[in-house]
Amino acid sequence: MKLRSACKFLHLLTIIFTVIEAQLVDKSNKRKEISRFEPNWESLDSRELPKWYDESKIGIFIHWGVYSVPAFGTGLSAEWFWTIWRSWNVEDHVNFMKDNFKPGFTYQDFARDFTGEHFNATEWVQLFAESGAKYVVITSKHHEGYTLWPSKYSFSWNSVDVGLHRDIICEAFYLEVYLFNSDNVFSAELSEACRVDNRIRFGVYHSLLEWYNPMYVSDRDSEFTQREFVEKKTIPELKELVMKYKPDIVWSDGEWEASYEYWNATEFLAWLYNDSPVSEIVVTNDRWGNDTMCLHGGFFTCHDRFNPGVLQPYKWENAMTIDKLTWGHRNNAKLQDFLTSKELIKELVVTVSCGGNILINVGPDKFGIIQPIFAERLRDMGKWLSANGEAIYESQPWLYQNDTITPDVWYTQGASINLRRDVFAIVLDYPYDTNTVELYSLFGYTDENTTIHVLGYPESVQWRIVNESVQVTLPNKAQLDKRGLNLAWTLKINVPE
Ligand SMILES: *[C@@H]1O[C@H](CO)[C@@H](O)[C@H](O)[C@H]1NC(C)=O
Ligand SMILES: *[C@@H]1O[C@H](CO)[C@@H](O)[C@H](O)[C@H]1NC(C)=O
Ligand SMILES: *[C@@H]1O[C@H](CO)[C@@H](O)[C@H](O)[C@H]1NC(C)=O
Ligand SMILES: *[C@@H]1O[C@H](CO)[C@@H](O)[C@H](O)[C@H]1NC(C)=O
Ligand SMILES: *[C@@H]1O[C@H](CO)[C@@H](O)[C@H](O)[C@H]1NC(C)=O
Ligand SMILES: *[C@@H]1O[C@H](CO)[C@@H](O)[C@H](O)[C@H]1NC(C)=O
Repeated sequence: MKLRSACKFLHLLTIIFTVIEAQLVDKSNKRKEISRFEPNWESLDSRELPKWYDESKIGIFIHWGVYSVPAFGTGLSAEWFWTIWRSWNVEDHVNFMKDNFKPGFTYQDFARDFTGEHFNATEWVQLFAESGAKYVVITSKHHEGYTLWPSKYSFSWNSVDVGLHRDIICEAFYLEVYLFNSDNVFSAELSEACRVDNRIRFGVYHSLLEWYNPMYVSDRDSEFTQREFVEKKTIPELKELVMKYKPDIVWSDGEWEASYEYWNATEFLAWLYNDSPVSEIVVTNDRWGNDTMCLHGGFFTCHDRFNPGVLQPYKWENAMTIDKLTWGHRNNAKLQDFLTSKELIKELVVTVSCGGNILINVGPDKFGIIQPIFAERLRDMGKWLSANGEAIYESQPWLYQNDTITPDVWYTQGASINLRRDVFAIVLDYPYDTNTVELYSLFGYTDENTTIHVLGYPESVQWRIVNESVQVTLPNKAQLDKRGLNLAWTLKINVPE
């Protein structure tokens, strides 16, 4: 009861923020006329992504579902457990079930043990805020069909009816607001400030398909000429999710077996962009049918762990994992399966230099714990960003993405102010032998007034032109270490336009 009334209160507040925010967005974009989007790609693709998304750069992805109970993966992703076991009959999965569970044990039987007794959304959101991430995307429903909210389209196969007995999507939203109120006083003004402040935004991952839903299976058997599942399940459920929780992101997946026409995706998106309560602020991805990925939608994800290493002509996102082999938690992960903090920073830097956002996945366990190894990686990133964030947030790709000659140096740039701007050169490997870095791409872009700083270090550093490069002498390494500057080092170079 308590939770439910909190939810209702929150929904009321969210409506208020959405209206206020819509007005702010309107003002800042100086939008004069409101034109409606048509349910076709030409029109939908012409929508500008709300600015907040590109500025944010970093999000956290959460895969949490019934698969977090068996939590088993051997190179195949753990959240695919049901289908790997039941449909693909992969031997180690079949044996895992045979060896550990009674005959006749079903996947649905795992839901009872999806207990989340240590789930504390405050702790999750605090960790995400400390990581420097600006948005969170949670699996509201994965391909198994189990919803993390009490959807009326998923009776008895949702987090309130079985397992957690909690509305996880609501709690996460509730905390988005509550995080920034240290007194735990839940007031409209405070919530509004939080929304306007845009400290952390909230998105929902949603799988269009459900492996074993009989309506879906029957539609597939008809080669998708029949559309009962879309009409009675997918679209009503998506609309319920949007109306109830007003997400900032709708991150679609599970699209690949049928065309966008089957999924009615253009009709849904036109509704989302025109008439939904999040029409002004929402962003979406590109997974709306077997014929849309990397072609249509909001930002492009192209494929899992997409990180092309070169500038892209559209806004894109690198959805990747800290446990390199899986999205859902698995109990049998090895230390070497996790990205190190240094590798994570490299992934972030390369992504942002090439115009992407990064969506970093963590898989909480069935108890609701984000294992310390994930927490450490995220906190290391947050610490790095507290010194180097100027080169990341709200940055733009520069003329060059990586240095033409020196390896492992990546560039971004800041805004132009009085005909000058800052170029950021992020050095991923420390030049231990020389203590200098040669920036070849910057040759010809500096002038007599150029100053160079290492972010997080108080004094400017020495530089000179050598052999068609800007050669920067770094401060004494011990002085950098003393300030906790590690993992990667950012040079901030002030150049004329
Ligand atoms: C959740 O975590 C926060 C922060 O650590 C703590 O203050 C709060 O008491 C916890 N809530 C529960 C129900 O344990
Ligand atoms: C597709 O969306 C349109 C607009 O909402 C609706 O009229 C139509 O019935 C939908 N078709 C299916 C199969 O859901
Ligand atoms: C996409 O799905 C449709 C069914 O909606 C199917 O007819 C078509 O062959 C699929 N295309 C590809 C490239 O798989
Ligand atoms: C970096 O830049 C060089 C020259 O511009 C290019 O050849 C190289 O492929 C780029 N990418 C990486 C990852 O080094
Ligand atoms: C450098 O700054 C000085 C003082 O502001 C100014 O007079 C001079 O024109 C600047 N030089 C260049 C190349 O912009
Ligand atoms: C000058 O740069 C070239 C690459 O362009 C390099 O091969 C050469 O060793 C450099 N010379 C010095 C003195 O650094």
